Amino acid sequence: MVNTREEGNATILITWWAGYIGSHAVVLFEEAGYKTVIVDNLSNASEESLLGIEKTLGYMPDFFKIDLRDSVRLQEVFSLYHFEWVLHFAGLKAVGESCNNPLEYFDNNIIWTLELLKTMEKNNVKNIIFSSSATVYNIWNTLPYIESQGTGETSNTYSSTKYLIEKILFDVSRFSQFNVMNLRYFNPIWSDPRGYIWENPVWVPNNLLPYIMKVVLGELEYLQVFWNDYSTPDGTGVRDYVDVVDLVRWHILAYEKLIANGKHWYYDSFNLWTWRGVSVLEMIHIAENGVDNKIDYRIVGRRKGDIAEMYCSPDKAYKELWWKSETDISTSVENSWRFYKNHTL
Ligand code: NAD
Ligand code: WQD
Repeated sequence: MVNTREEGNATILITWWAGYIGSHAVVLFEEAGYKTVIVDNLSNASEESLLGIEKTLGYMPDFFKIDLRDSVRLQEVFSLYHFEWVLHFAGLKAVGESCNNPLEYFDNNIIWTLELLKTMEKNNVKNIIFSSSATVYNIWNTLPYIESQGTGETSNTYSSTKYLIEKILFDVSRFSQFNVMNLRYFNPIWSDPRGYIWENPVWVPNNLLPYIMKVVLGELEYLQVFWNDYSTPDGTGVRDYVDVVDLVRWHILAYEKLIANGKHWYYDSFNLWTWRGVSVLEMIHIAENGVDNKIDYRIVGRRKGDIAEMYCSPDKAYKELWWKSETDISTSVENSWRFYKNHTL
């Protein structure tokens, strides 16, 4: 049963809402007063993700179980609503996996986006916020990365798909009058204190913190630390971990900036980071303090597609989106632990 929204409400289509970032986006946009309509094929989301949204909001937004490649069903959804915007989170995202299955990543991430854009244009919906990645930057750019630096010389296929989608969006912006904002982020980590939504992939987790939590919970014997001979302070990989709720708040600010801009054919990109490089060993130490337990790890070889360190300057976002992430990383880790403890033990 599809409930059509009462006339006049601006609605936002969120693709891949049931995923880690998408689910937080649904909750926060709804709580900010926006009406969201959500599509997901649930290929990498548990039923608990659906319940988590409902428990957090107290109701379930309009949801359609659709694969973005199903252009017929996608068109049915567009014909039911007057969408103002699309938040496009769709994208397979595992760096190492993308190097093992490059064609699958190109087929999925780019085809999904093309199908979505074609349906958007057909329905005259031309405003999109794209969930991009700081991995689009040339890997040899000087750190911290800033938006004016070059992109495209990537270290893995996942990043190549993000770069190519940004190029597609640039052309549909300048030639087909789309308004586009690329939000480039990298390592979101947990922070929703209510504890009903989380990164609970059907597939094996890829990110560092879910793995650490599985070690703490005894689901994994130890954490594999992918290499400790990088040119970083302690030899392990350095990343900028941003609180996922802070990250999604930036999406709301970006959305409101785009609405206010009044200009046509807007195209811009922002780094959504905290400028705080944290190594794998530092993250383990932070987690040990948060869970009050030792975390067993073993140094293993490099993971395909990994690079030593990556962090950006978020100055442009601070200045133009008028806000910056202030959640302390240990708070995010403690919120994560609080959630995992309640939901697994
Ligand atoms: P996720 O894997 O947690 O969520 C993906 C969701 O998409 C799942 O609910 C899955 O069921 C759904 N899905 C998969 N294939 C689909 C299809 N064909 N049609 C419709 N739905 C489909 O991902 P995430 O961590 O929430 O990331 C979302 C976006 O953010 C991705 O584009 C990713 O590249 C980007 N991103 C993620 C991170 C990160 O570390 N999590 C960092 C930077 C950027
Ligand atoms: C972080 C660090 C690993 C797991 C992320 C997103 C991906 C994409 C790119 C955005 C690295 C190390 C990890 C483990 C480890 N998103 N690590 N043992 O690789 O930075 O990729 O950004 O565009 O979707 O995941 O994140 O959390 O996998 O790794 O040593 O078991 O932790 O080598 O240095 P990554 P990650």
